[in-house]
Amino acid sequence: MSVTHFRTGDGSASLPVTFQTLQEKKQTGQPITALTAYDYATARLVDEAGIDLILVGDSLAQVVLGYENTLPVTVEEMLHHTRAVRRAVRRAIVAADMPWGSYHQSIESGVANAVRFVKEAGAQAVKIEGGASRAELVERLAAAEIPVIGHLGLTPQSVHRMGGYKVQGRTAAAIRELLHDAHLLESAGAALLVLEGIPREVAARITAEVGIPTIGIGAGPDCDGQILVFHDLVNLSFSQPAKFVRQYGDAAALFRTAIDGYRSDVETRAFPADSESYHLPKDAAAALESSALRHKA
Ligand code: KIV
Repeated sequence: MSVTHFRTGDGSASLPVTFQTLQEKKQTGQPITALTAYDYATARLVDEAGIDLILVGDSLAQVVLGYENTLPVTVEEMLHHTRAVRRAVRRAIVAADMPWGSYHQSIESGVANAVRFVKEAGAQAVKIEGGASRAELVERLAAAEIPVIGHLGLTPQSVHRMGGYKVQGRTAAAIRELLHDAHLLESAGAALLVLEGIPREVAARITAEVGIPTIGIGAGPDCDGQILVFHDLVNLSFSQPAKFVRQYGDAAALFRTAIDGYRSDVETRAFPADSESYHLPKDAAAALESSALRHKA
Protein backbone atom coordinates (compact mmCIF):
# COMPACT_ATOMS: atom_id res chain seq x y z
CA MET A 1 0.00 0.00 0.00
CA SER A 2 1.31 3.43 -0.85
CA VAL A 3 1.71 5.67 2.19
CA THR A 4 0.75 8.73 0.21
CA HIS A 5 -2.66 8.93 -1.43
CA PHE A 6 -2.66 11.37 -4.31
CA ARG A 7 -5.88 13.17 -5.09
CA THR A 8 -6.87 12.99 -8.70
CA GLY A 9 -8.28 16.50 -8.55
CA ASP A 10 -11.52 15.64 -10.35
CA GLY A 11 -13.53 17.63 -7.78
CA SER A 12 -15.71 14.66 -6.84
CA ALA A 13 -17.96 15.42 -3.86
CA SER A 14 -17.04 12.14 -2.16
CA LEU A 15 -13.34 13.00 -1.84
CA PRO A 16 -12.26 13.79 1.72
CA VAL A 17 -12.51 17.48 2.58
CA THR A 18 -9.21 19.20 3.39
CA PHE A 19 -8.31 22.67 4.58
CA GLN A 20 -7.29 23.37 0.96
CA THR A 21 -10.88 22.53 -0.05
CA LEU A 22 -12.17 25.09 2.45
CA GLN A 23 -9.67 27.68 1.25
CA GLU A 24 -10.82 27.08 -2.35
CA LYS A 25 -14.43 27.48 -1.22
CA LYS A 26 -13.62 30.88 0.28
CA GLN A 27 -11.84 31.95 -2.87
CA THR A 28 -14.67 30.84 -5.15
CA GLY A 29 -17.46 32.10 -2.86
CA GLN A 30 -18.96 28.68 -2.12
CA PRO A 31 -20.37 28.53 1.43
CA ILE A 32 -18.64 26.14 3.85
CA THR A 33 -20.97 23.91 5.88
CA ALA A 34 -20.11 22.88 9.43
CA LEU A 35 -21.96 21.24 12.32
CA THR A 36 -21.06 19.84 15.68
CA ALA A 37 -21.39 16.12 16.42
CA TYR A 38 -20.44 14.19 19.51
CA ASP A 39 -21.16 10.51 18.87
CA TYR A 40 -20.98 7.81 16.21
CA ALA A 41 -24.63 7.89 15.08
CA THR A 42 -25.02 11.63 14.63
CA ALA A 43 -21.53 12.01 13.14
CA ARG A 44 -22.42 9.40 10.50
CA LEU A 45 -25.60 11.26 9.59
CA VAL A 46 -23.80 14.59 9.42
CA ASP A 47 -20.97 13.18 7.33
CA GLU A 48 -23.27 11.27 4.98
CA ALA A 49 -25.25 14.49 4.43
CA GLY A 50 -22.10 16.07 2.95
CA ILE A 51 -21.25 18.60 5.67
CA ASP A 52 -17.67 19.87 5.17
CA LEU A 53 -16.46 20.17 8.75
CA ILE A 54 -17.54 18.36 11.91
CA LEU A 55 -16.57 19.95 15.20
CA VAL A 56 -16.57 17.87 18.36
CA GLY A 57 -17.44 21.02 20.26
CA ASP A 58 -17.04 21.47 23.98
CA SER A 59 -20.74 22.42 23.82
CA LEU A 60 -21.11 18.68 24.46
CA ALA A 61 -20.54 19.63 28.10
CA GLN A 62 -24.04 21.11 28.07
CA VAL A 63 -26.01 19.29 25.37
CA VAL A 64 -24.67 15.77 26.00
CA LEU A 65 -23.32 15.74 29.55
CA GLY A 66 -25.77 18.17 31.16
CA TYR A 67 -23.25 20.56 32.70
CA GLU A 68 -24.25 24.17 33.37
CA ASN A 69 -21.58 25.57 31.01
CA THR A 70 -18.60 24.30 29.01
CA LEU A 71 -16.01 24.77 31.76
CA PRO A 72 -16.13 21.37 33.54
CA VAL A 73 -15.59 19.13 30.50
CA THR A 74 -12.20 17.40 30.57
CA VAL A 75 -9.61 16.42 27.98
CA GLU A 76 -10.43 12.74 28.63
CA GLU A 77 -14.15 13.33 27.98
CA MET A 78 -13.40 15.30 24.80
CA LEU A 79 -11.03 12.55 23.60
CA HIS A 80 -13.69 9.90 24.22
CA HIS A 81 -16.26 11.74 22.08
CA THR A 82 -13.74 12.68 19.39
CA ARG A 83 -12.80 8.99 18.96
CA ALA A 84 -16.47 8.06 18.48
CA VAL A 85 -16.92 10.76 15.85
CA ARG A 86 -13.65 9.82 14.14
CA ARG A 87 -14.87 6.21 13.74
CA ALA A 88 -17.97 7.46 11.92
CA VAL A 89 -16.57 10.02 9.52
CA ARG A 90 -15.21 9.31 6.04
CA ARG A 91 -15.38 12.65 4.22
CA ALA A 92 -15.66 15.69 6.49
CA ILE A 93 -12.79 17.27 8.41
CA VAL A 94 -13.00 16.22 12.07
CA ALA A 95 -11.93 19.00 14.44
CA ALA A 96 -11.75 18.73 18.22
CA ASP A 97 -12.42 21.56 20.66
CA MET A 98 -9.70 21.97 23.27
CA PRO A 99 -11.56 22.24 26.59
CA TRP A 100 -11.05 25.06 29.04
CA GLY A 101 -7.90 24.56 31.11
CA SER A 102 -6.20 22.35 28.53
CA TYR A 103 -4.28 25.21 26.89
CA HIS A 104 -4.40 27.98 29.49
CA GLN A 105 -1.56 26.94 31.78
CA SER A 106 1.44 26.88 29.46
CA ILE A 107 2.27 26.71 25.78
CA GLU A 108 3.96 23.36 26.40
CA SER A 109 0.90 21.75 27.98
CA GLY A 110 -1.32 23.27 25.27
CA VAL A 111 0.80 21.67 22.55
CA ALA A 112 0.94 18.36 24.45
CA ASN A 113 -2.85 18.27 24.81
CA ALA A 114 -3.38 19.16 21.14
CA VAL A 115 -1.04 16.33 20.15
CA ARG A 116 -3.26 13.95 22.16
CA PHE A 117 -6.31 14.94 20.09
CA VAL A 118 -4.48 14.13 16.87
CA LYS A 119 -2.56 11.05 18.02
CA GLU A 120 -5.10 9.40 20.34
CA ALA A 121 -8.41 10.47 18.79
CA GLY A 122 -7.66 11.06 15.11
CA ALA A 123 -8.63 14.75 15.04
CA GLN A 124 -7.43 16.62 11.97
CA ALA A 125 -7.52 20.01 13.68
CA VAL A 126 -8.05 21.58 17.08
CA LYS A 127 -10.07 24.65 18.00
CA ILE A 128 -9.02 27.11 20.68
CA GLU A 129 -10.83 30.20 21.94
CA GLY A 130 -9.26 33.64 22.21
CA GLY A 131 -7.26 36.23 20.30
CA ALA A 132 -3.89 37.86 20.93
CA SER A 133 -3.21 35.78 24.03
CA ARG A 134 -3.38 32.62 21.89
CA ALA A 135 -1.14 33.78 19.03
CA GLU A 136 2.00 32.11 20.36
CA LEU A 137 0.17 28.80 20.91
CA VAL A 138 -1.31 28.95 17.40
CA GLU A 139 2.19 29.47 16.03
CA ARG A 140 3.55 26.49 17.96
CA LEU A 141 0.67 24.23 16.90
CA ALA A 142 1.04 25.24 13.26
CA ALA A 143 4.77 24.48 13.53
CA ALA A 144 3.80 21.06 14.91
CA GLU A 145 1.68 20.48 11.75
CA ILE A 146 -1.63 20.74 13.63
CA PRO A 147 -4.22 22.85 11.81
CA VAL A 148 -5.75 25.33 14.23
CA ILE A 149 -9.22 26.84 14.23
CA GLY A 150 -9.34 30.13 16.11
CA HIS A 151 -12.54 31.23 17.86
CA LEU A 152 -13.30 34.94 18.38
CA GLY A 153 -16.20 37.04 19.65
CA LEU A 154 -18.53 35.37 22.12
CA THR A 155 -16.19 32.70 23.46
CA PRO A 156 -18.19 30.52 25.89
CA GLN A 157 -15.10 29.51 27.89
CA SER A 158 -14.86 33.22 28.92
CA VAL A 159 -18.40 33.22 30.33
CA HIS A 160 -17.32 34.55 33.74
CA ARG A 161 -15.13 37.31 32.29
CA MET A 162 -17.88 38.36 29.85
CA GLY A 163 -20.52 38.29 32.63
CA GLY A 164 -22.76 35.94 30.63
CA TYR A 165 -23.30 35.00 27.01
CA LYS A 166 -23.43 38.48 25.47
CA VAL A 167 -22.98 39.65 21.89
CA GLN A 168 -19.43 40.98 21.53
CA GLY A 169 -17.84 43.58 19.24
CA ARG A 170 -20.39 46.36 19.60
CA THR A 171 -18.10 49.31 20.29
CA ALA A 172 -15.37 50.86 18.15
CA ALA A 173 -12.71 49.63 20.61
CA ALA A 174 -14.11 46.10 20.65
CA ILE A 175 -14.31 46.02 16.83
CA ARG A 176 -10.72 47.23 16.58
CA GLU A 177 -9.62 44.47 18.98
CA LEU A 178 -11.52 41.79 17.06
CA LEU A 179 -9.97 42.86 13.75
CA HIS A 180 -6.53 42.95 15.35
CA ASP A 181 -7.06 39.45 16.85
CA ALA A 182 -8.28 38.03 13.54
CA HIS A 183 -5.19 39.30 11.70
CA LEU A 184 -2.91 38.13 14.50
CA LEU A 185 -4.33 34.58 14.45
CA GLU A 186 -4.07 34.46 10.68
CA SER A 187 -0.42 35.59 10.81
CA ALA A 188 0.26 33.01 13.53
CA GLY A 189 -0.88 30.28 11.13
CA ALA A 190 -4.55 29.60 12.01
CA ALA A 191 -6.32 27.69 9.23
CA LEU A 192 -9.84 28.91 9.98
CA LEU A 193 -11.69 31.32 12.26
CA VAL A 194 -14.97 30.70 14.05
CA LEU A 195 -16.77 34.00 14.67
CA GLU A 196 -19.45 33.71 17.34
CA GLY A 197 -22.02 36.19 18.62
CA ILE A 198 -20.86 39.36 16.88
CA PRO A 199 -22.75 41.88 14.72
CA ARG A 200 -23.14 40.90 11.09
CA GLU A 201 -21.27 44.00 9.93
CA VAL A 202 -18.21 43.16 12.02
CA ALA A 203 -18.14 39.53 10.82
CA ALA A 204 -18.43 40.76 7.22
CA ARG A 205 -15.46 43.08 7.71
CA ILE A 206 -13.29 40.36 9.27
CA THR A 207 -14.28 37.93 6.50
CA ALA A 208 -13.33 40.46 3.83
CA GLU A 209 -10.01 41.34 5.48
CA VAL A 210 -8.57 37.92 6.34
CA GLY A 211 -7.34 35.40 3.80
CA ILE A 212 -8.47 32.34 5.78
CA PRO A 213 -12.10 31.17 5.85
CA THR A 214 -14.46 32.40 8.58
CA ILE A 215 -17.25 30.21 9.96
CA GLY A 216 -20.05 32.08 11.68
CA ILE A 217 -22.40 31.17 14.50
CA GLY A 218 -24.61 34.11 15.38
CA ALA A 219 -22.41 36.27 13.13
CA GLY A 220 -24.69 36.79 10.15
CA PRO A 221 -24.72 35.51 6.58
CA ASP A 222 -21.55 37.14 5.25
CA CYS A 223 -19.07 34.67 6.76
CA ASP A 224 -17.46 32.12 4.47
CA GLY A 225 -19.46 29.36 6.17
CA GLN A 226 -21.85 28.58 9.00
CA ILE A 227 -21.83 26.24 11.98
CA LEU A 228 -24.59 25.31 14.43
CA VAL A 229 -24.76 22.99 17.42
CA PHE A 230 -26.38 19.76 16.21
CA HIS A 231 -28.72 19.55 19.20
CA ASP A 232 -30.01 23.09 18.52
CA LEU A 233 -30.69 22.18 14.88
CA VAL A 234 -32.95 19.29 15.84
CA ASN A 235 -34.49 20.59 19.10
CA LEU A 236 -32.61 18.42 21.55
CA SER A 237 -30.94 21.06 23.68
CA PHE A 238 -33.73 21.61 26.24
CA SER A 239 -33.22 25.37 26.26
CA GLN A 240 -34.71 28.45 24.70
CA PRO A 241 -32.95 28.68 21.31
CA ALA A 242 -30.74 31.71 20.73
CA LYS A 243 -31.81 34.27 18.10
CA PHE A 244 -29.39 32.82 15.53
CA VAL A 245 -30.62 29.21 15.80
CA ARG A 246 -32.89 27.81 13.12
CA GLN A 247 -34.49 24.46 13.99
CA TYR A 248 -34.66 22.15 10.99
CA GLY A 249 -36.37 19.28 12.76
CA ASP A 250 -37.95 18.22 16.04
CA ALA A 251 -36.07 15.18 17.29
CA ALA A 252 -37.48 15.73 20.80
CA ALA A 253 -41.03 15.25 19.46
CA LEU A 254 -39.95 12.24 17.40
CA PHE A 255 -38.21 10.59 20.37
CA ARG A 256 -41.10 11.38 22.76
CA THR A 257 -43.60 9.75 20.41
CA ALA A 258 -41.40 6.67 20.09
CA ILE A 259 -40.74 6.40 23.86
CA ASP A 260 -44.43 6.92 24.76
CA GLY A 261 -45.44 4.26 22.23
CA TYR A 262 -42.94 1.78 23.66
CA ARG A 263 -43.98 2.40 27.26
CA SER A 264 -47.62 2.02 26.41
CA ASP A 265 -47.05 -1.18 24.37
CA VAL A 266 -45.01 -2.76 27.19
CA GLU A 267 -47.61 -1.80 29.78
CA THR A 268 -50.45 -3.29 27.69
CA ARG A 269 -48.36 -6.35 26.62
CA ALA A 270 -48.66 -5.30 22.99
CA PHE A 271 -44.86 -5.52 22.80
CA PRO A 272 -43.22 -7.85 22.04
CA ALA A 273 -45.53 -9.75 19.70
CA ASP A 274 -45.15 -13.46 18.92
CA SER A 275 -43.55 -12.47 15.60
CA GLU A 276 -40.89 -10.57 17.56
CA SER A 277 -40.04 -13.65 19.68
CA TYR A 278 -37.65 -16.55 19.10
CA HIS A 279 -39.14 -20.07 18.99
CA LEU A 280 -37.86 -23.54 19.86
CA PRO A 281 -37.53 -26.24 17.22
CA LYS A 282 -40.29 -28.90 17.54
CA ASP A 283 -38.23 -31.58 19.37
CA ALA A 284 -36.91 -29.11 21.95
CA ALA A 285 -40.43 -27.71 22.42
CA ALA A 286 -41.73 -31.25 23.05
CA ALA A 287 -38.96 -31.93 25.57
CA LEU A 288 -39.78 -28.67 27.35
CA GLU A 289 -43.41 -29.76 27.66
CA SER A 290 -42.57 -33.27 28.84
CA SER A 291 -41.51 -34.16 32.37
CA ALA A 292 -37.88 -34.55 31.23
CA LEU A 293 -37.05 -30.89 31.78
CA ARG A 294 -39.02 -30.42 35.04
CA HIS A 295 -37.03 -28.79 37.79
CA LYS A 296 -36.53 -31.09 40.73
CA ALA A 297 -36.41 -29.31 44.08
O1 KIV B 1 -18.46 24.06 21.27
C1 KIV B 1 -19.05 24.36 20.22
O2 KIV B 1 -20.02 23.72 19.85
C2 KIV B 1 -18.54 25.51 19.47
C3 KIV B 1 -19.23 25.95 18.25
C4 KIV B 1 -20.60 25.91 18.08
C5 KIV B 1 -18.52 26.90 17.42
O3 KIV B 1 -17.57 26.06 19.85
